[in-house]
Amino acid sequence: MLDFLGNLERTHMCGTLRAGHAGQQVVLMGWVNRRRDHGNLIFLDLRDRSGIAQIVLDKELTPEGHAKGEQVRPEYVVAAVGKVRLRDKDAINPKMETGEIEIKATELRVLNDTRLAPFSPSEEAIQNEEIRLKYRYIDLRRPEMQHNFRLRHEITLAIRESLSKQGFLEIETPILTKSTPEGARDFLVPSRVHPGEFYALPQSPQIFKQILMISGFDRYFQIARCFRDEDLRADRQLEFTQVDLEMSFPRREHVFGVVEQFMKAAFAAAGVDLPVPFPSISYDESMRQYGTDKPDLRLPGLTDVRSAFTNEALATLQIDSALPVVALRIPGVGELSRKEREENHPLFDQKKGAKFIDDFKRLAKSFPDAAAKVRELAGAAESDFVIVVAGDPAHHIKASDTKFSGRLSEREINVYAAAGNFRAELAKKYADRHGAFRITDEVVEKARARSANDDLIDGGKAFHPMWLTDFPMFEYELSSGKWVPAHHPFTAPYEADMANLVSDPASVRADCYDLAMNGLELGSGSIRIHSKDVQQVIFRALGISDEEARKRFGFFLDALEYGTPPHGGIALGLDRIVMLLAGAANLREVITFPKTAKAIDLMADAPTTIPEQQLKELHIRVAR
Ligand code: AMO
Repeated sequence: MLDFLGNLERTHMCGTLRAGHAGQQVVLMGWVNRRRDHGNLIFLDLRDRSGIAQIVLDKELTPEGHAKGEQVRPEYVVAAVGKVRLRDKDAINPKMETGEIEIKATELRVLNDTRLAPFSPSEEAIQNEEIRLKYRYIDLRRPEMQHNFRLRHEITLAIRESLSKQGFLEIETPILTKSTPEGARDFLVPSRVHPGEFYALPQSPQIFKQILMISGFDRYFQIARCFRDEDLRADRQLEFTQVDLEMSFPRREHVFGVVEQFMKAAFAAAGVDLPVPFPSISYDESMRQYGTDKPDLRLPGLTDVRSAFTNEALATLQIDSALPVVALRIPGVGELSRKEREENHPLFDQKKGAKFIDDFKRLAKSFPDAAAKVRELAGAAESDFVIVVAGDPAHHIKASDTKFSGRLSEREINVYAAAGNFRAELAKKYADRHGAFRITDEVVEKARARSANDDLIDGGKAFHPMWLTDFPMFEYELSSGKWVPAHHPFTAPYEADMANLVSDPASVRADCYDLAMNGLELGSGSIRIHSKDVQQVIFRALGISDEEARKRFGFFLDALEYGTPPHGGIALGLDRIVMLLAGAANLREVITFPKTAKAIDLMADAPTTIPEQQLKELHIRVAR
């Protein structure tokens, strides 16, 4: 039999009680985390959002309460009435925040029982994530998850406050709208009243926020839900949240300043001091130094080791001498056995037209000077594992050789990217990147034994933001033979490059920027095109006909003609920020009810089929 709550009122949260509360009468409510039966004494660990407190049911003091205590099981919902008292010295639990006290109960009410849960929230997360997601309500009871969502709340609050202080207004934009040009597939919603017509869910508020600038709001922000029908990954969900902002009359430095302020506040809310301003690097330089446009600065970068090799050595080693030759090093893993090396080979992206040398013993046999020089140039310690990555003349992938205004060619970028990917994959493997590179005990031990470099072992506490600038405006798409926008098509080109838009699109730089942190792209934005004429030129340069542009963005092109101020902005992935600060490896750890990699909500069982009648109302026939 269950008890009623009646007029019982909670006086305290479990986790807030301390020695100073001793002697106070309290009423606590929550879930039974654990129960220990010592005969005449039963101990209940009572858990709520704030933490755990120990309840003692003494048969002599409360025979009725004690009898109920014999019945309750973990995850029953109970209310305990009693007095806080200091624990005996030898019973103090320094691992518990409330470990100095306990509650000597005078009454216990059993408010609800439970079915036997498939796992216990008082234990570590179980391996089977599908079960966690199916019973998400139980999974979310785990203190780790409670922590993540409190953190998410604090971070969001800090961002809102910071942006509001910086003069930004929080304004909502529609969810039922028209396709937005972020390059992913749209989620469509059929219109009942307009047969055969569809709304699209926003991939981002991009067009609307630009229109808000035309409307004179000057500084807009929104914690905006976005929807993209794309393949899911650890850092990608179908629906996710952006910290989205736009401002009028800015240069990109102003956008950076705004972001740095709110990021500082967000990190401070999580107890992390994030120094500002953030460093910045050009796209080309980032490719050269890290082989990626989202560099992870916790690892050593790539080193140009071309000079370590004579032309003869390059020819013998069958290395393309016209392409970069770089070294990457993984600190602290020591010399790997042949078997260990071979296990790493599938992590190398074969499709980039690059090759690698990871057998330094063999290299040293034929080219001892080169082998020594590579290690020296790369600054490799004894215990660092070094790999050389270079262009493979035998695997000439189809790529444009265009070199423009001193920038990298696609082929060069491919070699750097192959090295960068390999570096990131190996780091993941050897650092067990549980979110923020939390290193496995095994690797730490191995590294310590080999007197490792500390680079890799920062305990996941280091956050390294980096602005990326000077992206190319267009990328050449081999499959279509077209220049496609590297960003959405509203991104402004550099004023100085405008003259080359048609004659030499490859040379045009975009006034856009990314914010990267610890190997993740956190945000992306740009100064926008505010002139209809330039917008039209860009559309044409992208092969979007006037007719198509009108059909897709006609309303926006019209709006551009009505006194559009120069404007620009950015959007940061809120889920990704929280993921980093929570030290999580997957967005699912910081989204309450996420989708699986197969795009399914296992708890709600979505997506589902729809009754025939509902389909009919929506004028939809399903082709099976
Ligand atoms: P972009 O498409 O680069 O830019 O997105 C901005 C940021 O949003 C986050 N993000 C995602 N997070 C989780 N799951 C996803 N599927 C996902 N897709 C994107 C990333 C990314 O950096 N309108 C432009 C911004 C602008 O120009 O102002 C835009 O949406 O952190």
